[in-house]
Amino acid sequence: MGRIGRLPPDLANQIAAGEVVERPASIVKELAENAIDAGARRLKIHVELGGKKQVRVEDDGEGMAPEDARLAIERHATSKIRHADDLGAIRTLGFRGEALPSIASVSHFVLRTRARGSASGTEIRVNAGAVASVVEVGMAEGTIVEVGDVFYNLPARRKFLKSDAGEAAQVTRIVTQLALGYPEIGFTLTSGGRTALQCPPAASLRDRLYQLYGERDDLVEVGRDAGGIRLTGYVAALAETGAAGTPSGGPARGPQNVFVNRRIVKDRTIAHAIIDAYSQASIKERSPEVHLFLEMPASALDVNVHPTKAEVRFRDQPLVHEVVRRALRDALGQGGAPQLQLQPERAASEAGVRVAAAIPGVLGGGVFPNRWRPEGAGLDAGALRAGVPGARAPGSGVSGATATGAGMPELRPLIPLGQFRDTFIIAVDDEGIAIVDQHVAHERVLFERVMRQLTAGRLESQRLLMPVVIDLAPDACQTLAARTVQLEAFGYEIERFGEGAIKVAAVPALLGAEDSARALRALAADLDGLDRGAEVQDALQRIAATTSCHAAVKAHDRLTYEKMAHILDELRATAYSTVCPHGRPVMLRLTRREIEKNFDRI
Ligand SMILES: Nc1ncnc2c1ncn2[C@@H]1O[C@H](COP(=O)(O)OP(=O)(O)OP(=O)(O)O)[C@@H](O)[C@H]1O
Ligand SMILES: [Mg+2]
Repeated sequence: MGRIGRLPPDLANQIAAGEVVERPASIVKELAENAIDAGARRLKIHVELGGKKQVRVEDDGEGMAPEDARLAIERHATSKIRHADDLGAIRTLGFRGEALPSIASVSHFVLRTRARGSASGTEIRVNAGAVASVVEVGMAEGTIVEVGDVFYNLPARRKFLKSDAGEAAQVTRIVTQLALGYPEIGFTLTSGGRTALQCPPAASLRDRLYQLYGERDDLVEVGRDAGGIRLTGYVAALAETGAAGTPSGGPARGPQNVFVNRRIVKDRTIAHAIIDAYSQASIKERSPEVHLFLEMPASALDVNVHPTKAEVRFRDQPLVHEVVRRALRDALGQGGAPQLQLQPERAASEAGVRVAAAIPGVLGGGVFPNRWRPEGAGLDAGALRAGVPGARAPGSGVSGATATGAGMPELRPLIPLGQFRDTFIIAVDDEGIAIVDQHVAHERVLFERVMRQLTAGRLESQRLLMPVVIDLAPDACQTLAARTVQLEAFGYEIERFGEGAIKVAAVPALLGAEDSARALRALAADLDGLDRGAEVQDALQRIAATTSCHAAVKAHDRLTYEKMAHILDELRATAYSTVCPHGRPVMLRLTRREIEKNFDRI
């Protein structure tokens, strides 16, 4: 007897479903994509208990004739490709003929469909992959798919689902993305008794963005047409291109929605090009909000490379990278000669005074004490990022610079000399030159303060004279509303205000009212994905990080000498903190030894 046997079809389908159907949101995605492929103009999506109890997708597309409806729930049955050649030029979102049978194999499944122009519709019921009934029904033209009790026959999979709210948020996110990708189609999403999203067909992407995200003057348009690739969309602006005169920080953190030939994708090449463009513009935001749409000939990419179709492969990857990078760079308005903003004499003379009090000789007579002091092995190239001056990181090996002579304070103050591009503080001490990212440093300082205050109780709150209403994407509102209690400890008092807005009555005192909108937007992005109740400490840290980030001085803020000195002093007190709460480095160190070596002075 052989040991190998063929799997029965329902089991094969369940296994396929393991790849295609991860959670209710993936069901919503597959069904909505089918509706889009069927030429629907309006989609109505409804979920119960985050989609665990039910997902229903209703469309006004072309529908199916009875024999097609029967075939649609069979594996490898598709109307979208016929020959191997077709794989090279796919214009539809679906092509595998796997979604419906997979979904039907792990749920109570009902398909109702009526082809355009036909007199009646067909209803097919499937339970765990087995057809239970097929009947003729009266209905409007189009298709309705109902998926009940997903994974009811796979308890192990069901256990891995998040809370209802968590799953609902994922559903809202995917519908938001689809709505963004197809402005001409109307989308409605209801969740339980609530309308989570309502977007009538829109004339343009700009209108759709407005429907979803409200007024956003912090997004700039991008566009480029090169090498057969067309890129359009909007990205989070840098501070200097933001609304004139308003104090604003780095680009808004937020969703990175990337579409290739109208397909939502996650792509490393594109993600890298985005980061590249932002860091070239001197902002190291790890996840700036972008909404990008790439169009290229179907033959320029392979869409058949990922089980949930979430990734594609580009024929010319470097070209895609270059088009995206350049388009963003241009949009972000990089350019202009580098500028070194030196502080006026007053600063220098004050520095002198401070020097005299702190470390004699740094600016004064140019005599460096302990010049030949053995500096240990710590000062290799890696020490360039060594962070706070003289901070002795126990056992870290980068503390050689502090091998001090008697009587020297262990943490020496840095003397600010001025700003570079209004973004970096240039400072010196007798160990060398430090380039400090003013925003990151201040953020670090505030973060420590926030965490201290939080341990002692709660953050000081400042009640707004007039509550402010902030427009947010529905999923963002949902995320924040689920966290009101934790946010209160930080001084935020918020309340849901309709589907797409949050009413803010109080904000942390260290945050101005103007900064609160940005901070809340960022918070929504940060807290998204953390399941309610779980990882509370993580969530608190994130709120603290986001709050300090938005209260901190920004890149492109011109600082007074006092402010620079204050930031450096405070930074000194945070001792070993060499990275910001988001993990970005605070400081670049050019050590005395490196400087001297470069000038052949050793
Ligand atoms: N809402 C709908 N309206 C009209 N026809 C549909 C609809 N949903 C599915 N179909 C038909 O059923 C077929 C099977 O759908 P299914 O989603 O299983 O596969 P697919 O879309 O072809 O490929 P994929 O597995 O990549 O999604 C489709 O090819 C299409 O012809
Ligand atoms: Mg499909």
